[in-house]
Amino acid sequence: MSKINLMNAELANRIAAGEVIDRPASVVKELVENSIDAKSKRIQISISEAGKKEIRVADDGTGMDRVDAELCFLRHASSKLKSIYDLRRITTMGFRGEALPSIASISNVEMTTYDGGNAPGTKVTIVPGSEPIIEDSLQRKGTIFTVRNLFFNTPARLKYLKSDMTENAAITEIVEQISLGYPEISFSLTIDGREVLKTSGHGNLLEAISEVYGIESAKKMISIEGENGFFKIIGFICEPSVSYANRYHQLSFINKRPVTIIKANAAFNAAYKDYLPPNRYPFTILFVEVDYSLIDINVHPSKKEVRISHEEKLASLIEDTAKKALFKTRPEYATPVFKKVVEVQIPSASKNVDNKPQQMSLNDVLKENSNIEILQHVEEINSKKEEIPSLILNDIEKNEAVEEKVETDFFPEKEEINVEKSFEEIINEPKTTLPELFPIGQVLKTYIVCDGEDGMYLIDQHAAAERINYEKAVRQFNSLAVETTIPLMPLIVELPSSLMLRYDRKHQEMLKSSGFITEEFTTSSLRVEEFPTVLKDDEDGVRDIIISVLKDEKMELSELKHLAIATVACKASIKANMFLTLENMKTLIQELNKCHNPANCPHGRPTVIKLSKYEIEKLFKRTGF
Ligand SMILES: Nc1ncnc2c1ncn2[C@@H]1O[C@H](COP(=O)(O)OP(=O)(O)OP(=O)(O)O)[C@@H](O)[C@H]1O
Ligand SMILES: [Mg+2]
Repeated sequence: MSKINLMNAELANRIAAGEVIDRPASVVKELVENSIDAKSKRIQISISEAGKKEIRVADDGTGMDRVDAELCFLRHASSKLKSIYDLRRITTMGFRGEALPSIASISNVEMTTYDGGNAPGTKVTIVPGSEPIIEDSLQRKGTIFTVRNLFFNTPARLKYLKSDMTENAAITEIVEQISLGYPEISFSLTIDGREVLKTSGHGNLLEAISEVYGIESAKKMISIEGENGFFKIIGFICEPSVSYANRYHQLSFINKRPVTIIKANAAFNAAYKDYLPPNRYPFTILFVEVDYSLIDINVHPSKKEVRISHEEKLASLIEDTAKKALFKTRPEYATPVFKKVVEVQIPSASKNVDNKPQQMSLNDVLKENSNIEILQHVEEINSKKEEIPSLILNDIEKNEAVEEKVETDFFPEKEEINVEKSFEEIINEPKTTLPELFPIGQVLKTYIVCDGEDGMYLIDQHAAAERINYEKAVRQFNSLAVETTIPLMPLIVELPSSLMLRYDRKHQEMLKSSGFITEEFTTSSLRVEEFPTVLKDDEDGVRDIIISVLKDEKMELSELKHLAIATVACKASIKANMFLTLENMKTLIQELNKCHNPANCPHGRPTVIKLSKYEIEKLFKRTGF
């Protein structure tokens, strides 16, 4: 007996809805995308009860005539895809003809639409399981969708929705992202009667960035533009002084469609690698223009993924373009720091005629070599030459080619920091003491040479600085009363509205117990009136901690402390790559000696090594005398 039944439309739509609509934010995305495809200039979205009660999207687009208004709720009814050939050249956001029937199968939908023609507008009311009601309607040109009681007939889905706050944040995030992709459209988003986002629609991307992320963020953006045979890219990337602890701020669009391009993000991160510490990510907005034949959008139900031919060429275009743009910002970024070993060949001094060989040779390298990393490194050496004349002069006296190697991996990797053993344990550990040490000088701008009990000691100044800062931060955050600073002017931390929506009493209290006194300032910024003193001069650190607290609802106080400590230790150690005077060295040794464990950096590497008298004598083959 045959067993196969053809599904009726209602069942097929309900199944499709499972793929297309998984939360209220998906409804918003689908309706807004339809409004964009309908060439709207203005799209107004309003939400109540996290979209479960009502989602309303009104646009001023093309609208539909009576026939289309009735057809659009049928499965596979689309004005956007007519033949198999069109599938290769999809220029619209939608193409499947699935969104509206899916939405209408799991909610109560009312749609009014008018195409500006002579016939009256149309109102369609749909209740799943009943025939649609079609009526005349009077309205201005455009379409208004009102979706009520979402998931009322799929209780399992309703049950698995997150808190209203999280769902509202997801909706806001979608609208924020889409509005950056379409700066020529004015978007407004109102949640439970409160406007949380509004863009002007003036067509200026930087203006849209400032409307979504705040003017301060927009001021720190650099425009990028590049092209190769396959791809054209434009966009904005942040100055290296801005960075985030997560990838949340890396947005990309292909032919104006918001998509995730993992390789593009990786390429940006590669371009920033010499500017940002590990585990820090830039804020980037990328628009890729490419021939439609090189992309396949039809690979995922949510259309979020695309397949791109020659993706590696896109990645290298992004990396090169971003590197060039970042290089131009160099003066703003005082201390470029490099992770890998950079070798610079300084030509022999004898080739120079004006008897200023140390400058000439460095500048020659500067002019001849276009490699950005090397240029930056040489610039750094140049800027430090007054501090280190002996080093360069000695080389010149020898009249030989000098090869300088700089190992500059000074950033502690945050996750390596031994947190299991933090706070109480570190404070209660038996204290280790260093012998009395007398600094003599510095080698390789990295190690302090000391004379001490029974031998010679070398201190890794970076590791020592990390240990000192780490313990300082542990002490600060461990004490019940965290030492706080009240800035003269409250800090205004700008945040995307999607994050601000998460800010509530619980987060406020959690931040307060760690020394952050915060208050809502606008729908997209917090006012920070007090913060832990260890974060003084580190606005990024303050912002990062707030973002992390807002992003992670489950964050515990101890995790917050760890985050702050890791941030502080990491930031402070950046400053460690520097020339030290004897006085600086003495202070560093004194501070190190105050630590409970002066012998190791927070990652467990030694801060001090000793060459005993015996070992030195052995090396000079003086033993046995
Ligand atoms: N706001 C709108 N203004 C004008 N026409 C609209 C609007 N929303 C939907 N339509 C029409 O209804 C059709 C069906 O919309 P639906 O979202 O279901 O499918 P689609 O956009 O073609 O494809 P996808 O399922 O990928 O979104 C669209 O092709 C379009 O013609
Ligand atoms: Mg659609």
